Amino acid sequence: MKIIAIANQKGGTAKTTTTAAMGVLLSRCGTPVHLVDMDPQASLTRAFGRHDSSDRLYQSLTDRASLPVDRLAPYLTISPSSIELTRAETELLAEPGREYFLRTCLERTQLPENTLVLFDCPPSLGILAVNCLAAAGGLLTVVQPGGFELHALVHLQMTVRVIQDRIQPDLHVLGAIITNAHRRRAITEQVAAEVSRVSPVLGIVRSDASLLYATTAGTILGLSRSRAMDDYARVAKRLSDEVL
Ligand SMILES: Nc1ncnc2c1ncn2[C@@H]1O[C@H](COP(=O)(O)OP(=O)(O)OP(=O)(O)O)[C@@H](O)[C@H]1O
Ligand SMILES: [Mg+2]
Repeated sequence: MKIIAIANQKGGTAKTTTTAAMGVLLSRCGTPVHLVDMDPQASLTRAFGRHDSSDRLYQSLTDRASLPVDRLAPYLTISPSSIELTRAETELLAEPGREYFLRTCLERTQLPENTLVLFDCPPSLGILAVNCLAAAGGLLTVVQPGGFELHALVHLQMTVRVIQDRIQPDLHVLGAIITNAHRRRAITEQVAAEVSRVSPVLGIVRSDASLLYATTAGTILGLSRSRAMDDYARVAKRLSDEVL
């Protein structure tokens, strides 16, 4: 099983959109993909038009039980989130071994062989995000051209080093994806060049209103071709060639 966390503590950098798009594209090629929505905002869950009124992910983490697995499409499943997960951020803090709860839950979850697991991390470096990094083998960061991106990236890398030293020595930085980009804008090139000094850049995904619409409307599964999905398909290909 390959496990990848999609993270950046900065908000609104397209972590959720990237997790959803990569899940859709890789599963369409026949790779079994399981998505875990570790953000209490539940945006990933909603991108697929789902919700979870029984707070199963929160319960799993609290009880260290197997994760809920809901089927979205052939080869694609999700552990949906709900706002209740916010409570985990504070409640789990007091518990010994709190960094490893997600890892334990995942180990207890029955998934098909060779499943790729993708964690959509919340925009923080709190205990939920740390649980993702502690359970993951790989880290994908998502960056948008704009201010303070490198600052966020450097901060994330410092956290990754602490996690590698203390919690998960096998955590591997796979690279960064630059999203929501206006290709001809000089800032995109500038950010790509700066990011590439600290992390491999796996691709640039263009800004695309149809992707924004599909995630907001909960219809990302039905989105076939679009500018951004074409760009994500190239990143997915690179990821499966180099990592999977
Ligand atoms: N390629 C794109 N083209 C147009 N809009 C995009 C693109 N990627 C992401 N967006 C939009 O940018 C906003 C932020 O994206 P998203 O929710 O995926 O970010 P996030 O990093 O998960 O946010 P948070 O930190 O709140 O979890 C959303 O409205 C999303 O639809
Ligand atoms: Mg998100």
